[in-house]
Amino acid sequence: MRILVVGAGAIGTLLAVRLARSGGEVRVAVRGDSVDRLARDGLRVEGPRPDDARVDVVDSAGPLGASDATLVAVKGYDLEAAARSIGRLPGVPTLLIQNGLDLIPRVEAGLRAVGTDPSGVPIVRGVLTLPVTLLGPGRVRETGVGWVVLPSDGPGPLREPVRLWAGLLAGAGLEVRRVPDFEREVWRKLLVNAAINPVTAMHGVENGRLAQEPWRGQALQLLEEARQVAAAEGFEFPREEAERELFEVVRATAANRSSMLQDVDRGRPTEIGTISGAVLKRGRRHGLDLPGTRRVVDRLSRPVAGAGAPTRAPERP
Ligand code: PAF
Repeated sequence: MRILVVGAGAIGTLLAVRLARSGGEVRVAVRGDSVDRLARDGLRVEGPRPDDARVDVVDSAGPLGASDATLVAVKGYDLEAAARSIGRLPGVPTLLIQNGLDLIPRVEAGLRAVGTDPSGVPIVRGVLTLPVTLLGPGRVRETGVGWVVLPSDGPGPLREPVRLWAGLLAGAGLEVRRVPDFEREVWRKLLVNAAINPVTAMHGVENGRLAQEPWRGQALQLLEEARQVAAAEGFEFPREEAERELFEVVRATAANRSSMLQDVDRGRPTEIGTISGAVLKRGRRHGLDLPGTRRVVDRLSRPVAGAGAPTRAPERP
């Protein structure tokens, strides 16, 4: 099975190694300046299940080669660019595993930009809860426990692509949970990200610190605002359930620097737009006032002091 992994950040690197070690013929597509290094040094996972793999590495701007299954592991704000690359390989079952909302329209926009009809690309969304830290190019550490959620046998045309990806990920040693109400799981994860990621990113603290004040109170306010928006969108999460789940994730990923904090650490743009920005946008539609969410969106849409300068303007929702 030829598997193309687009993006070699924390999640892309981890999954590329796992998929390669379970027998996949993995090719990783990255920006030109990383190709030689990753090809030379290979990819390595540290943590409770250390492993490494040598994989083919190609420039995402050039020919990607044939693929039977594509994983798009870039950040939410890079989805459109990634879709312009994979648009050259229509028809391949494609898995998205980014945090946040409104991912598929971004991919569709990228596909259209290169003249590919989005209906010809079977796009599956998954929700990943694995905490992974990028240590350097091609090197990651798995820092806790997590799983991947996929829709249970979904609508007709996506049934086979979902099964294919569920099989590949389970074969690679990941815990795969298939659920009937997948959109609800997207919101469940969004609540966690909307609470954890901005607070850790603004204050430079690991997830575990959110069990203590003042971070706890800030995370709870963001959780509550996102929970109200979820309810307005038709996804009710009782407050105690949402808070319990938040602190379960905080405990299970205590040592992790959230993906948003890792972006801030590297002076890169963050996913604030597809996480809190998406909450704010929907909240406005429902006439909800979300002061905490508005504050973190404002704050994280500008460079964060102490971090390197962003490589390009952060995205505003
Ligand atoms: O974005 C992240 O970092 C992760 O989704 C999570 C679960 C918050 C763990 O850090």
